[in-house]
Amino acid sequence: MRATGGSRTAVLVCQGRAVADGRIAPGRFTDPVAVSLLRADERRTVEQVRAGAPPAGWLERVDYESVRACAAVLVPRTIAIDDAVRERPSPQVVLLGAGLDGRAWRMPELAGRVVFEVDHPDSARDKRERLAESPAAARPVADVRFVAVDLGRDRLGNALAAAGHQTATPTTWIWEGVVPYLTRPEAARTVAAVAALSAPGSRLIVNYQAPQAAIAAGRLIARSLDVLARRRGIWADEPWRSRWTAPAMRDLLGGDGFIVHGDDDLLTIATRLAAPTPRRAALRSGRVAVADRPA
Ligand SMILES: C[S@@+](CC[C@H](N)C(=O)[O-])C[C@H]1O[C@@H](n2cnc3c(N)ncnc32)[C@H](O)[C@@H]1O
Repeated sequence: MRATGGSRTAVLVCQGRAVADGRIAPGRFTDPVAVSLLRADERRTVEQVRAGAPPAGWLERVDYESVRACAAVLVPRTIAIDDAVRERPSPQVVLLGAGLDGRAWRMPELAGRVVFEVDHPDSARDKRERLAESPAAARPVADVRFVAVDLGRDRLGNALAAAGHQTATPTTWIWEGVVPYLTRPEAARTVAAVAALSAPGSRLIVNYQAPQAAIAAGRLIARSLDVLARRRGIWADEPWRSRWTAPAMRDLLGGDGFIVHGDDDLLTIATRLAAPTPRRAALRSGRVAVADRPA
């Protein structure tokens, strides 16, 4: 990741959640914190999408469509992960690549628990600045600890230990929307580090991307539009570096002692929820795996 001002993909997914809040799968999905973490220009696109009022300029329209598409993908992904957290709540939760995640603020189930928000140093700094400007996000329900770690370079265990993570206590790990930004060796090293820090009874929830030709083509088009507009697009700073098939992910997690007992694509999850499925290729390529370390 090379985004010195913080992760722009984290902003995009936060915009997606802000769009979906109260509009898509109401009663199952909610994220009232998301909008308060956005800056004024980022919020403008959210308001346009919520109002169904596309902007006139083609470039603004590209951003509008990205945020709209993101909302449809974020709903099943968030619900599946929230459900997996609730099903087996641990005393401590670690968000790997936390971005602008609002779980420590919006999930009552996390009240009183310790939530470690691990993220790239630039993104961690950006989130803290946004929180300082957001009275709505002033009070997390959990005991939040920010941990600056570059997963491609730094030692996760040392940083978490310094923040008070207890390796003898079960941990729920949430690794959402981050795996594609890591190379395969970086992802494998992260799983090994997580395993070494996981007491029996720990749970690892992984959202990752499976290979899909339609998605690769879509990204190529998005990059071409950025070139045409002479702007540095999101994917220039945060390109996708690894995609995993479900069997490959099962092998990766299993090799470090995690037993996968659920791994669904987002289309299946959205269909189960009776949520809208407008971006079927994007939904089909996103997956959520839930893996446990036997107690
Ligand atoms: C798409 S955002 C997802 C954020 C959050 N998990 C969510 O779903 O809202 C990608 C996140 O991965 C983080 N990330 C990317 N590369 C990273 C690295 N090498 N080390 C740590 N975090 C990284 C970014 O900082 C960003 O927060």
